[in-house]
Amino acid sequence: MKRTILTLVLTAACISAQAQISELVRQGNATQLMHGGKPFIILGGELANSSASSGEYLDSRDTWKYLAESGVNTVLAPVYWELIEPEEGRYDFSTVDYLLKSARANGQKLILLWFGSWKNSMSCYAPSWVKRGFNSEFELAANSDGSIPEIMSAFSERNVRADAKAFASLMKYIRKADGSEGTVIMVQVENEIGMLGDARDHSRLAQNAYNSPVPYDMMYMLTSGKANDHINDVWKAAGKATTGSWKEVFGSSLEADEIFMAYWYARYTERVAAAGKAEYDIPMFVNTALNSRGRKAGEYPSAGPLAHLMPIWKTVAPSIDIICPDIYDKGFASWISQYATADNQLFIPEVRQEPENGARVFYALGHHAAIGFSPFSIDNMPQEKDYPLKKAYELLTPALDLIAEKQAAGKIYGMLADATEKETVLTINGIDFKCRHDLTLGWNPEAEDPDKWGETAVMIMDMGNDMYLFMGTGVVTTMSPADGRGRVGIERIDEISFDDYGKMQKIRRLNGDENHQGRHIRIPFGEYGAQLLKVYRY
Ligand code: DGJ
Repeated sequence: MKRTILTLVLTAACISAQAQISELVRQGNATQLMHGGKPFIILGGELANSSASSGEYLDSRDTWKYLAESGVNTVLAPVYWELIEPEEGRYDFSTVDYLLKSARANGQKLILLWFGSWKNSMSCYAPSWVKRGFNSEFELAANSDGSIPEIMSAFSERNVRADAKAFASLMKYIRKADGSEGTVIMVQVENEIGMLGDARDHSRLAQNAYNSPVPYDMMYMLTSGKANDHINDVWKAAGKATTGSWKEVFGSSLEADEIFMAYWYARYTERVAAAGKAEYDIPMFVNTALNSRGRKAGEYPSAGPLAHLMPIWKTVAPSIDIICPDIYDKGFASWISQYATADNQLFIPEVRQEPENGARVFYALGHHAAIGFSPFSIDNMPQEKDYPLKKAYELLTPALDLIAEKQAAGKIYGMLADATEKETVLTINGIDFKCRHDLTLGWNPEAEDPDKWGETAVMIMDMGNDMYLFMGTGVVTTMSPADGRGRVGIERIDEISFDDYGKMQKIRRLNGDENHQGRHIRIPFGEYGAQLLKVYRY
């Protein structure tokens, strides 16, 4: 009897520790980050690059308090190779301890960012014992003109072993220090990987690989139809050879060079990620510097986990669970759509910190069922109480369980509007919801000035029984039957808040001026709100 009870207790303890370890699980229509037995949506913020090097620095600025007040539930914080392994094989995890302790004390989850071999292409976070061995024991990449950037070569066995060993030690440490609590919910491997200065590494080791046969897994990806149009086009233009060196199979072009490098970057990253996962198996991702502003390979961090190279990364780096975009350019909606694919659930670990993020988070969660959203340099976000992201996170926080449920059920939709893309029609249950930027009404004096428009967004959740929950900012919506027969009317609209348990509470009935005498449902520009609509047909 005693033994049975003991077994039961131990099993329960095991299950509960297990439940704390996060994992990515396909649930209905979305892949979700499961934590503590339920989906967890990340309302995140990434610390500025140097902030996590000093606990005193963060504390002196009251960072944790400020993050909690901002509605952030997850902090993305770097772990620096140079600090955790100051001498080869001697580890110092005090910066990690500080993060764990502070995050727990302040009710935050953590996503740790491994600043290992590469940070924005460069290798500035390599420890001094690695740096001092550059060009002897450790290898750097080389440009075609013979210049040597401070970029560790993806072709060096010594490089990848050192990085993988350090990363494995970090993951082992996190498992021991945090495996039962699960404060760390994901880990980013390296940061914005990619070759700069040239589309490919021309070092001796790289040239050897370049002149060697294209490896089997890459060839198989091509011949089994698993590549995308971009890769296929480069292959086709070079004659579609099924064996041969990289030049023989892909020809000589910037695009071909980038494909070659993507394979080797992905392979290196896989070695590092797999070594870490062998110690502690939690979700891992890579982040991507975009090929924006018409730049050519070599001008942006080339061969990183970019959308046009995704099949290579997915094939060669299976330990990487998701590929994530960092958005610092115009065109938020179009960039993120490239990273929201059937086999890649969207997570945005970095987006330039700007007021528009208050709208974008609704769109990312609603339209793409994103796992989460995280503006960069969150510790330097403006402190005003009603800064847009704070308003958005405040509104979203108590609704996250509902949002996760609707994401899995495929019953959530989203639209984003700006001065050029003013309107989107979402068809739900045979009803066209025509969602427009609120300034299209022309009621607000700011409508005159296109520079004042800013981005606005709404998510719509199908609640069943003719009810639709709208959450967002600056969007006005009218409804009509998708088949053009009859009309869709507003039976009622209630302004809603959520209690601490996520249960909807009615604030007030919205009618009259608030819904333009029954003509539309509207969350005005500059305001953030939740409104529950019930429609009828006549
Ligand atoms: C993207 C990088 O991933 C970040 O670490 C940071 O360097 C920003 N760019 C720019 O500040």
